[in-house]
Amino acid sequence: MPKRLAGTVIDSATLTEENKAEDKTLPSYWGFEKGEKLTTLDEFDPMKQTTVKGQADAKRMLKTCRAWLKSDTGWLTIIGGVGIGKTHLMKALAVEGNCYYITAYDFDYRIKQFRDSTSEGTQRRDPDDWLHDIGTMERRLIIDDVGAGYIDKGWTSIRFERLVDLRYRNQRPTAVTSNLSGKALEKALGERIMSRITDADIARVVIASNAKDIRMKRRKALSLYEVYTGKKPDAE
Ligand SMILES: Nc1ncnc2c1ncn2[C@@H]1O[C@H](COP(=O)(O)OP(=O)(O)OP(=O)(O)O)[C@@H](O)[C@H]1O
Ligand SMILES: [Mg+2]
Repeated sequence: MPKRLAGTVIDSATLTEENKAEDKTLPSYWGFEKGEKLTTLDEFDPMKQTTVKGQADAKRMLKTCRAWLKSDTGWLTIIGGVGIGKTHLMKALAVEGNCYYITAYDFDYRIKQFRDSTSEGTQRRDPDDWLHDIGTMERRLIIDDVGAGYIDKGWTSIRFERLVDLRYRNQRPTAVTSNLSGKALEKALGERIMSRITDADIARVVIASNAKDIRMKRRKALSLYEVYTGKKPDAE
């Protein structure tokens, strides 16, 4: 199997059958780190939300994710607070829809890695070639956690804008998620990106403002003692 740089994207069409079979067993084929826990759409249960409005948001997210998987073009934009299952859904889509998954943080990290890889023995890659590859590939692209402040202003933010524009201009199916909404999102991403990811002609946008943090629910099942000490109250 050809050696690949971490973060290199190979369009599924260019993989041989043998490589495909081997790659499919590796989370890296979908952009994950080895050993990362994968999720499925079926495991996403809208009833985990505790309010009727939260459940309605969760149902809408799930339904919209499934609809996006069925169409060949278009954007999926999911906006909502922390712990409502955005990453759970995006990882599930990556595997079930053979998408390439990347977080905004990893985008920033990987593109700088390519730019800065000067040491002997490290395969070099022009960061802008990589950008062009993922910007134009037919394979679906998922960018999780946009606007979370991971993208440096300047060198990487220009490239992030280019990535969004390439996907948009080439009508490549792309999904994005964010914790921010409204003006805060526009401030973080800039008008140009905001306008593309919420273009009503091509984007399925879900604003899940009533869904609540599932992690909070789990934390409530623990005592404060356990949260801070990591031990059961009777463990000492
Ligand atoms: N409706 C649900 N059904 C099953 N599991 C869920 C659901 N919602 C959230 N979870 C689980 O809750 C945890 C937090 O979800 P996840 O990481 O997807 O949230 P997120 O919206 O991406 O949060 P953040 O904005 O902080 O990244 C995960 O373990 C996820 O599997
Ligand atoms: Mg997340």
